[in-house]
Amino acid sequence: MITVTGGVVMTKTVTIRNVTLGKGIPKICIPLVSATLSSIMKEAAVAIAAGADLVEWRTDCFEDVESSDKVKEALSALRGILGETPLLYTFRRKEEGGNRCIETEDYIHLCQMASVTGLIDLLDVELSVGEKGCRELLAAASSNGVKVIMSSHNFQETPPRQIMADILLRMRRLGADIPKLAVMPKKIEDVLDLLSVSAEVSQSLDCPIITMSMGSQGVVSRVAGELFGSALTFGTAVEASAPGQLPAEALRSVLDILHQDKRRVWAAYFSPTGTTEKIVTQISRSLAASIGIPLRLFDFTLPHSRESVKEFGSEDLVVFGVPVYAGRVPNVLLKYLNTLEGGGALAVPVVLFGNRNYDDALIELRNILEARGFRTAAAAAFIGEHSFSKILGKGRPDEADLKLAEEFAKEVAANLAAGLFTTPVSVCGNDPIRNYYQPRDRSGNAIDIRKVKPKVKDTCVACGHCAEVCPMGSIDPKDVQNYTSICIKCGACIKKCPIEARYYDDESYLYHKHELEAEYKRRAEPSLFY
Ligand SMILES: Cc1cc2nc3c(=O)[nH]c(=O)nc-3n(C[C@H](O)[C@H](O)[C@H](O)COP(=O)(O)O)c2cc1C
Ligand code: SF4
Ligand code: SF4
Repeated sequence: MITVTGGVVMTKTVTIRNVTLGKGIPKICIPLVSATLSSIMKEAAVAIAAGADLVEWRTDCFEDVESSDKVKEALSALRGILGETPLLYTFRRKEEGGNRCIETEDYIHLCQMASVTGLIDLLDVELSVGEKGCRELLAAASSNGVKVIMSSHNFQETPPRQIMADILLRMRRLGADIPKLAVMPKKIEDVLDLLSVSAEVSQSLDCPIITMSMGSQGVVSRVAGELFGSALTFGTAVEASAPGQLPAEALRSVLDILHQDKRRVWAAYFSPTGTTEKIVTQISRSLAASIGIPLRLFDFTLPHSRESVKEFGSEDLVVFGVPVYAGRVPNVLLKYLNTLEGGGALAVPVVLFGNRNYDDALIELRNILEARGFRTAAAAAFIGEHSFSKILGKGRPDEADLKLAEEFAKEVAANLAAGLFTTPVSVCGNDPIRNYYQPRDRSGNAIDIRKVKPKVKDTCVACGHCAEVCPMGSIDPKDVQNYTSICIKCGACIKKCPIEARYYDDESYLYHKHELEAEYKRRAEPSLFY
């Protein structure tokens, strides 16, 4: 067992542009190792086409690296080609396996110059430059919004495990955003040592790490990062920059294979009277079966389930459903929804409405999910029996709705497999989003039911079930006639009371309910977007 000490508690991931390191499949970084500007540009285009998550420019390979102007010119051209793909700037010194010798002072100057250009996202800082140099470069990087990969390379051997762990921890203590260690194995046990150090340090440290065992013996360390805690792996598009690097395409296939069992379909829903739950689980069950991956449930209807932050990852496919309240996403959920962490998960926003209309609810939900880091790939609006009524949308979703939901899921699964989808998914609705739907009487006067709360009949047997199902936790379980907080008129306590002992007697509420029932008799049909 190695000893791991130190580390400030913070998040374990680092996000650069749209790429999050430290979660899910290790990211593939393709190094550019050409000498001339024109071949670097070609290499960059090939790297992007090969699916690089990040691109590293190895400036020690660049013939004009001594000219700051030429380096800046190349950086600006590279930025244009790379678009949103993060750029890692590296000068690898000879003693660390690079192509050139350079004075420490010049190395620091070169890295500082790159940091202030605003064109790079990540800077490689070699630990061996010394504590003072590292601190100077960390300061320059951080004041320019550049993250630092601090690196150490040993081309001779694999040091003892405690020493490898100490190197990674020291980098973090110095302030590295991502410590990186590359070592050379002489025997297979060395590879195992590197993997076990990675696994232990990555679990105890508060940031992503990158580790690799070089050469042909160490290849497993370049593909098994997800299992052993290395967040990034270097692959080639044209030429390797270090021994043992694999072509990016092959790397991607192996990473995907090792990642398979992490993929999940999620049924995520808020559903006081159960209609959203029915459709969301139908769609997600069918998606999981079509893709052949497991299904997980995330029911955030009750207050306790909304107490902690829910994080998803790029391996997740989330069918995310809420009911339509006043033509929108229920406003009581907004604060919570804005704490979700999508982490690049694919999502299918779904809304359930009570046979009137979903107005802007679906577009609002889509926008929220996108803003929280989900990638919406399909969407749907289905009909559920209205929360206020037993006749409006009676019994829906019904057999026909469930069948349609299943077919929709199969189509979505096929599109996802073929890559035939665009994000964000395009849906019906207004953007900017309209105001909440306002109920009115026949003379056009607004009906205000915000303060209305259900009453309790004398027949109540005090079973407490209504208190258990209230999504606002507003019914006092010791006295179910007593409210401890707001009522959103979700209908859960009324529809789920086993003896129908809860009811409304408010005139405005009953008037609105009857008006809805009279006006929306026609059968509304679901809307599907994919
Ligand atoms: C406060 C409130 C407002 C609602 N507003 C609408 C609406 O604007 N349009 C509509 O068609 N249904 C509306 N409904 C009905 C619900 O969207 C519908 O019954 C849904 O299926 C309930 O989902 P659940 O079973 O998951 O709770 C509203 C329900 C409530 C409680
Ligand atoms: S669920 Fe119905 S019977 Fe049970 S405590 Fe609530 S109102 Fe009373
Ligand atoms: S008290 Fe209001 S919010 Fe709570 S379950 Fe009943 S209708 Fe819903």
